[in-house]
Amino acid sequence: MFYEPKKADHGLPHDPFKSCVVPRPIGWISTLSRTGVCNLAPYSFFNAISGRPPMVMFSSIGYKDSQRNCEDTGEFVVNLATWDLREEVNQTSFSYPSGVDEMAGAGLQPAASRIVKVPRVAATPVALECIYWKTIELPSPVAGARNGVVMGEVVGVHIDEAILSEGRIDISKLRPIARLGYQDFCVVDEVFTMPPPTLNGVG
Ligand SMILES: Cc1cc2nc3c(=O)[nH]c(=O)nc-3n(C[C@H](O)[C@H](O)[C@H](O)COP(=O)(O)O)c2cc1C
Repeated sequence: MFYEPKKADHGLPHDPFKSCVVPRPIGWISTLSRTGVCNLAPYSFFNAISGRPPMVMFSSIGYKDSQRNCEDTGEFVVNLATWDLREEVNQTSFSYPSGVDEMAGAGLQPAASRIVKVPRVAATPVALECIYWKTIELPSPVAGARNGVVMGEVVGVHIDEAILSEGRIDISKLRPIARLGYQDFCVVDEVFTMPPPTLNGVG
């Protein structure tokens, strides 16, 4: 089959696009509003986009509180979404009115960050403190709606040493969750190793 997204002529009961780019890691973004209210929401249009310096992005479909807070305060934290925290991750996608502390709303404890003022989720084993870099506006089919990719530089990395084995992050202890299409998620709990390719025995 073939379809054109602008025509939505796939003939399927649900738009299949999000199932064509899978799995998508989930950036669980904490921010502070200008008045200091804590906001927390999952974004699966999220990824690391560079390593030196480490940079991350999330994409906001519509102008949401996380984007506004990043732009207003210049800071955010990426909390790793894990199997153990799956219910809380989902709960924080609820559209609370601005002004509600969403970390408290999901029954989560905050932990202080070291460099940025934005708190991290105490229960997550990995958190990335970020300084907002810039937003790239994306097109939107909805007149007046603002879609944007928010980018930031990672300036501090928290890792709970309990998830390390022999000095490496142990995925079987971390158990990150990721987003599939529809209402589906997956958990990463199987790893395989593949050495880099060689040509005529030369790497
Ligand atoms: C797993 C998951 C992933 C999501 N990914 C995105 C995303 O990439 N972009 C987006 O705009 N909304 C996404 N959402 C919806 C937002 O989390 C939701 O709109 C939330 O209320 C936004 O909160 P905020 O206004 O506090 O930023 C996602 C929801 C879930 C459950």
